[in-house]
Amino acid sequence: MEKKKIAIIKGDGVGPEVVNEGLKILKIINEYSDLKMEFCEAPAGGSVYKTYGESLPEKSLNIIEKSDAILFGAIGLPDLPTGVAELAILKIRQEFDLYVNLRPIKLYETAIDCCPLKDEYIGDGIDMTIVRENTEGLYAKIGGILRDEIASNIMLYTRKGCERVIKYAFEYAKKRNHKKITSVDKANVLACSQLWRKIFEEIGMKYPNIDKENFLIDAFCQWIIRKPYTCQTVVTGNLFGDIISDEAAYLLGSLGMAPSGNINPGKLSMYEPIHGAAPDIAGQGIANPVGTILSVKLMVEESFQRKDLGKDIENCVEQALGEGRTMDIKSDKLKILSTIDMGNLIAGKLKEQLKK
Ligand code: IPM
Ligand code: MN
Repeated sequence: MEKKKIAIIKGDGVGPEVVNEGLKILKIINEYSDLKMEFCEAPAGGSVYKTYGESLPEKSLNIIEKSDAILFGAIGLPDLPTGVAELAILKIRQEFDLYVNLRPIKLYETAIDCCPLKDEYIGDGIDMTIVRENTEGLYAKIGGILRDEIASNIMLYTRKGCERVIKYAFEYAKKRNHKKITSVDKANVLACSQLWRKIFEEIGMKYPNIDKENFLIDAFCQWIIRKPYTCQTVVTGNLFGDIISDEAAYLLGSLGMAPSGNINPGKLSMYEPIHGAAPDIAGQGIANPVGTILSVKLMVEESFQRKDLGKDIENCVEQALGEGRTMDIKSDKLKILSTIDMGNLIAGKLKEQLKK
């Protein structure tokens, strides 16, 4: 079988620390399963910008183009103007048309204490997936600043852009036997959302067995902490998805817990934790690698159709969270682990599992 090519973008801040742990997991899979991969680093982000004057140099783009999937850490440096380093990630999303941003938010049994909500709000558990449109909306980058007086960004929704991500969300819900799909918009004000809602209803007619629910973004922001256990598949536009995914991730106790996949189905896709570069804790060995390791789970499932390996990774993460924790989700009852120790704990379990 041909080896899958994985581009590795470590990035800035805690990016390299968490990616090293994700890489550990990929290397165990490489050694102990029949999924074979080769790895190639593609530097990008703020520190690269400082050296080359570009946050995504041509050389890295060439490596990415030849790969099957990307494992991405985080980018952004506090001493660069905001947005400069971030251009790298936005460029990759646009260039490779990674139109789905898949963001599962799952509270594991062994980590229920991490959730900041009272038990009654956790109900029978939190297990939702945000399907965020990833190339349009306010991220279409139409607009600019005029004489430091006027600034504009055009919110762009196209029928094609809405249809493809909404279809993806319905298929996602169907495959997982979700009874309900929730669409989040601002249709009481925005024309973009009115088109979105119309297309959601049109496509929804083809899925009679799935209940459809519409929420306005403001109301959904309170719903997600009030009855998070009722959410299953949630589909929404780019900026709304960006905002609610950070809110939802904190239901797991830390942004460090949540993974994501920037997906173009059947083509090159990119997997990354949803947290940023976190320069305040970089270099201290305390960052939580779970979001990155769960992004590796998404990679093997979504890019390489290996649900089996994904399940193995997930089981190991769940067990590890019951034994030790990084600082951000610490518990009095469990030992505190460094980034590397948490990675090793999960990797060790996976090795045992795959050797069986
Ligand atoms: C995310 C991030 C990015 C976004 C930034 C880094 C450009 O916040 O992946 O959620 O806004 O999409
Ligand atoms: Mn974000």
